Amino acid sequence: MTWDLPLWQSLLPIGRHPATGGYRRYSFTEADSGCREWFKNAAAERGLRVECDSVGNLWAWLDVRDDLDRGGAIVAGSHLDSVPDGGAFDGPLGVVSAFAAIDLLSERGPEPVRPVGVVAFVEEEGARFGLACLGSKLLTGVVAADVARDLTDSEGISFAEAIAGAGLDPGLVGADGGLAERVAAFVELHVEQGSALDGMGAVVGVAESIWPHGRWRIDFDGRADHAGTTRLADRRDPMLPYAATVLAAREAASECGALATMSKVRAVPGGANGICSAVHAWLDARAASEETLESLVARVMECARGSADQHGVTVTSRCESFTPVVEFDRDLRDRVVTALARRGTTAPVLPTGAGHDAGVLAGVVPTAMLFVRNRTGVSHSPAEYAEPEDCAAGVEALAAVIEELACR
Ligand code: GLV
Ligand code: MN
Ligand code: MN
Repeated sequence: MTWDLPLWQSLLPIGRHPATGGYRRYSFTEADSGCREWFKNAAAERGLRVECDSVGNLWAWLDVRDDLDRGGAIVAGSHLDSVPDGGAFDGPLGVVSAFAAIDLLSERGPEPVRPVGVVAFVEEEGARFGLACLGSKLLTGVVAADVARDLTDSEGISFAEAIAGAGLDPGLVGADGGLAERVAAFVELHVEQGSALDGMGAVVGVAESIWPHGRWRIDFDGRADHAGTTRLADRRDPMLPYAATVLAAREAASECGALATMSKVRAVPGGANGICSAVHAWLDARAASEETLESLVARVMECARGSADQHGVTVTSRCESFTPVVEFDRDLRDRVVTALARRGTTAPVLPTGAGHDAGVLAGVVPTAMLFVRNRTGVSHSPAEYAEPEDCAAGVEALAAVIEELACR
């Protein structure tokens, strides 16, 4: 196959910011509704049955004849939402590839003996409501409906209001207790968000594990005052402990072989000639083990408190999103690697520091991930890219895995 798919081309313009070339596909916004329409059209063109679950996750089903049906479905997919100014591939590559893999299977046979599904999870990035993988965490019961309903975006709109605006009933949001019975395996294909595969000369990889990771909101409250008349000694400037915390996060992460990022910050009220009254900051932290992650975050918070004290500022923090370590199902992983090897594809097994809905589903159903080479390794950026021939190889690999799991 080739990657000049109308399916991919028709998704590309939706939610792309004309000035930056990055995607701003936030859940339940106009861009998201364009993506949802695109999904429904893709399903309709293939004669797939569409379902929207209580959370807003979209499913497209290739049903099987009753006399063939061996039970649990094989589902592939990913997400269509983006980070602010995200790339074209993170999420959509997995959804488009799932539809394209179904096309390949239909062309080449054999006939599935299990239903095959394509899913697009909502709010994977947590860019609007702050909680990563919200759609899959709600579906699997990892996040309670009450907690989700009360989450708010930067304008104060709640998740409940947002999904009501999209025609869903917030009162019905909740876990799907029948998921484990209905779905025999979930496979998420994703663009690699690093360049390990390129270093190994491989086009497709298989996930081994996901580092535990989370986001913490840190609020520094000081006192607004005049930039030209307030003596340095009299200031209670929240920007100073914030700055110290950014540097401490970097130092602590480097010392414990982990990752810490403080890229989202809001200064209030944010005038150039005034000391701000508050700084709202976010820490994204990831490590190979939960112990390391815990001690990294503790060190950062200790610095925030110490520096805040020094500057007459108060500090409060809370965890907005946390995903524990994930080890993908070893039997399924081995089966995937073997099925690919049988077709001449050597797929290295890799850990990753990036979060995915697959990591959440892994707690409930056997789950695997395929990564597609990204030669520059750049992601969460308009520069994110995978070569068309690598995307095509990803579809071939996904089709092989679906055939292995759904046609025997
Ligand atoms: C998702 O891409 C994440 O790791 O934040
Ligand atoms: Mn992402
Ligand atoms: Mn993603």
